[in-house]
Amino acid sequence: MERIDKIIASQGVYSRSEVKTLIKKKRVTVDGEVIKAYDLKVDAAKSLIVVDGKPLKFQKNVYLMLNKPKGYVSATEDRDHKTVLELVPEEFSGRDLFPAGRLDRDTTGLMIITDDGVLAHNILAPKKHVQKIYHVELDVPVTEEMIQGFESGVELNDGVCKPASLTITGEKTGTVTLKEGRYHQIKRMFGCYGGKVTELHRLAMGNLHLPSDLAEGQCRELTEEELKQLQQII
Ligand code: URA
Repeated sequence: MERIDKIIASQGVYSRSEVKTLIKKKRVTVDGEVIKAYDLKVDAAKSLIVVDGKPLKFQKNVYLMLNKPKGYVSATEDRDHKTVLELVPEEFSGRDLFPAGRLDRDTTGLMIITDDGVLAHNILAPKKHVQKIYHVELDVPVTEEMIQGFESGVELNDGVCKPASLTITGEKTGTVTLKEGRYHQIKRMFGCYGGKVTELHRLAMGNLHLPSDLAEGQCRELTEEELKQLQQII
């Protein structure tokens, strides 16, 4: 049981004080009865709460998928650059959203934006070894030496990387699968072999793949199936 004003405000549409006004103006009903007390305790899972004729759609957390374009930083605010939150549809503006993980400003592809801190923590926790798959384009050909090196663990200035897989998909393109996520990791790994990454695009996190119909810059809620895939990762 929770206070009705808290339950309604948790939907992110109205603030606590706006909810009080709504209740005062008799615009809220619980199981068909107009309510008068904003501290009324209600079981949100069992009651039908209606605001202005619209039943509340209970959703504890929001899980969004973004096909990140270049030029946006993976942060909630930034003084100099646009943030990925600017691409979130208006309807989620009342939520306390943040990106679960980072992609560089010039990296594109799959990004999860959520208000579920536990899930985000789990996706990012090094112990969980969540696989992230990237399409990479280089300014030099992908070599056997790189493939072997990635497999045995590239040595970077902050330590040896966990084994990663690199497969060749074209003369200067490949697919990299990482189980960790250090700062500029892929760029630094190729840098060890004299290669510069010219394009980097995240294709998948665990079983969750970027759908081909999600255009760059588009952001939408995960389907139930996709959410299951994301939860299976951890
Ligand atoms: N590795 C990088 O170098 N950059 C990214 O954005 C992701 C992985």
